[in-house]
Amino acid sequence: MDGPGLLPRCRGRTCIIHGLLHLQSTMVALCKISVFVGALAALSQGLAAGSQGHRCRCRPHQPCWPSQDEWQALNSSIDGNLAAVLPVAHACKEPSLDASACLASAAKSNDSVWRAAQPGAVQWTNWEAWPEHNQTCYFDGLENMPCGQGRVSLFSAMVEKAEHIQAAVRFAATHDLRLAIKNSGHCFLGRSTAPESLQISTNKMKSIAFTDQFRPVGAPRRQLGKGSAVTIGAGVDLKELYAAAAKHNLTVVAGLSHTVGAAGGYIQGGGHSPLGNWKGMASDNALEFTVVNANGKLVTANDHQNQDLFWALRGGGGGTFGVVVSVTVRTFPSVPAVFVDFGFAVPGGNPSAYWDLTRDFHSHLAAISNAGGCGYYYVNPQLQETNGMEVMLLSGMFLFLNETQTDKVHKVMDPLAADMRRNSGPGSTCNVTMVPQISEGIDAALKGDADTTGGIVIVGSRMISHDFLSKPDGPKRLTDALKSIVESAEAVGFTGHVVAGGAVARSTIDSALSPAWRRTMTHIVFGVDWTSTTPLAEQKEIRDRLTNVQVEKLRVLEPDMGAYLNEANAYEEDFQKSFWGDNYQRLYEIKQKLDPTGLFIARKGVGSEDWDDAGLCKVGQESRRMLQMQS
Ligand SMILES: Cc1cc2nc3c(=O)[nH]c(=O)nc-3n(C[C@H](O)[C@H](O)[C@H](O)COP(=O)(O)OP(=O)(O)OC[C@H]3O[C@@H](n4cnc5c(N)ncnc54)[C@H](O)[C@@H]3O)c2cc1C
Ligand SMILES: *[C@@H]1O[C@H](CO)[C@@H](O)[C@H](O)[C@H]1NC(C)=O
Ligand SMILES: *[C@@H]1O[C@H](CO)[C@@H](O)[C@H](O)[C@H]1NC(C)=O
Ligand SMILES: *[C@@H]1O[C@H](CO)[C@@H](O)[C@H](O)[C@H]1NC(C)=O
Ligand SMILES: *[C@@H]1O[C@H](CO)[C@@H](O)[C@H](O)[C@H]1NC(C)=O
Ligand SMILES: *[C@@H]1O[C@H](CO)[C@@H](O)[C@H](O)[C@H]1NC(C)=O
Ligand SMILES: *[C@@H]1O[C@H](CO)[C@@H](O)[C@H](O)[C@H]1NC(C)=O
Repeated sequence: MDGPGLLPRCRGRTCIIHGLLHLQSTMVALCKISVFVGALAALSQGLAAGSQGHRCRCRPHQPCWPSQDEWQALNSSIDGNLAAVLPVAHACKEPSLDASACLASAAKSNDSVWRAAQPGAVQWTNWEAWPEHNQTCYFDGLENMPCGQGRVSLFSAMVEKAEHIQAAVRFAATHDLRLAIKNSGHCFLGRSTAPESLQISTNKMKSIAFTDQFRPVGAPRRQLGKGSAVTIGAGVDLKELYAAAAKHNLTVVAGLSHTVGAAGGYIQGGGHSPLGNWKGMASDNALEFTVVNANGKLVTANDHQNQDLFWALRGGGGGTFGVVVSVTVRTFPSVPAVFVDFGFAVPGGNPSAYWDLTRDFHSHLAAISNAGGCGYYYVNPQLQETNGMEVMLLSGMFLFLNETQTDKVHKVMDPLAADMRRNSGPGSTCNVTMVPQISEGIDAALKGDADTTGGIVIVGSRMISHDFLSKPDGPKRLTDALKSIVESAEAVGFTGHVVAGGAVARSTIDSALSPAWRRTMTHIVFGVDWTSTTPLAEQKEIRDRLTNVQVEKLRVLEPDMGAYLNEANAYEEDFQKSFWGDNYQRLYEIKQKLDPTGLFIARKGVGSEDWDDAGLCKVGQESRRMLQMQS
């Protein structure tokens, strides 16, 4: 089918130009315009481009696009699990307006369990839209704007087993399609959607199997087993995993969310956890992955085979090295824990007392972390009403694992609480309680059945080191930066993640995980948003302010630390260094070796700099530089 249609004429630089100009005309018009520009570019830097052959993926209006019969053949090879996909809000818009269907889906639009299961949704709706192409389909968007497909995939292989994944991967490779892997769709960087793509949705792969003594495939006979472990399918979410483990009186190193996936982007990006200080990052506890690779083969990656892939999958980022079918992670006894729940309230109208309190709070983090504490805090300088008083709140929780003695925890919490009292008022609390099983502590922290999602958000973040906060002026400099970020925009609050230290810092595991994690004391995240009717130019201003002003204030504190790739700015500059530090070179080499044609490309993922932002056309070195200049 791949005859001499439009595609061959669009090879080489011409399609790169397409990517740069965001032209919306037909390919024919496009190729005509760009011949001239392309020729100039080629003149100026020699004729490198064409020699690499095929540079854009097959797109729906082209003759290379699979025929109805070919889609049906894929459908039968995956047992009828192929779906044609429209954005979830399509029933609320022309051309398929249907008032009652619209009401039914709109009612679920903030439910993360529902969003995870819908092929036409992800969790953050800005990644369903493609504003650069004027394609959006928001539940609450402009009334008379028709539903645009945006970055929502055109077809979804809603796979149930490894063979289905293999069939979908081979189909995408054969037809040169843009492939998107979606698990929960939580990605803050838009990695689980891609325009004009075939989606592999792993949501139905819910297997969970425990073993007392795990033996990796290929391990020498005489070698001891790895102890108790659980093997989880690609679609299991964290709440399901915690619940299954609790039934066996076990726990796992996983994140604090209901619907983030346990085997997808979370663990492949490193995966921080309230159990981190006790047992390391999620990826430090991964013992084996089964993966469908770029050739459509099912392979096992562990310490004994496909070691490069195993190294890359532990921190290298989701959607980049293959489709993970399952992962085996260590399990631990569901030990007792001491749970600290705190809220310090500064009476309204006194921001300077609030920032002093925030500074003092940060000066206690090292002591808490050194004593085994792990948890989260929320710096919320917006005035809010609590118990009839206007206050600014600093609240959060800490967990001390495998601990039964509340007085030991009081020893580190009491000095903090005493310091807090200098600036906080009535209504402040710091409760220390023992829970007989960590699973109860997790349940208490994870209230409800789902996460609340469905909004528009991008985040900014930075990891701050133990060394930085241990310097006498460290807590003040960090707090000044937070304050200055708040002053640069309306309504910004921060989540601090005290999820490293302890076993994360001590670990000697060699993996793709950013080395900065081993030095991290707190990982600070804040979100910014816009509305569904905000024009693109204003969205760009918000992105630029986040990148160049707000995140920059944290970045300059420690230029060598970086950001956590799963909770970072979607427009992060120099993302290779920021997400992986010195590990990037090796990651890039592994990527070239395992996936030379770039079948698996994730936004701001390893090797993504060789493609345009949509992952549709390859870019040469010259255009890569131009893209960087434009953004
Ligand atoms: C409410 C909330 C809470 C969070 N809590 C934590 C936390 O406690 N700790 C933490 O570390 N992070 C946390 N995160 C961030 C989270 O780790 C990332 O959003 C992560 O990308 C989610 O992975 P996913 O597979 O569920 O999502 P998706 O968006 O579906 O996928 C993310 C990336 O992984 C790829 N991917 C998914 N499945 C596979 C697969 N089977 N094989 C290959 N690639 C795959 C996708 O293509 C995409 O590139 C949280 C996020 C949210 C929204
Ligand atoms: C795939 O097959 C199933 C079962 O026959 C059918 O319901 C579904 O509509 C088909 N998908 C597509 C995209 O045609
Ligand atoms: C986007 O599309 C809508 C509806 O078709 C139209 O009214 C609007 O002018 C378009 N905006 C841009 C920037 O092209
Ligand atoms: C889990 O622990 C409880 C309480 O100690 C015990 O009654 C129960 O039998 C244990 N369950 C399993 C599966 O070991
Ligand atoms: C601490 O405990 C008291 C009494 O049980 C309760 O009223 C308060 O809400 C708790 N504080 C926090 C932050 O959980
Ligand atoms: C819990 O602590 C005890 C006492 O220090 C130790 O022996 C045990 O190994 C720890 N349990 C786990 C699962 O780490
Ligand atoms: C869902 O969230 C959006 C954005 O955060 C909000 O505007 C909307 O009112 C919410 N919808 C429902 C049904 O709760």
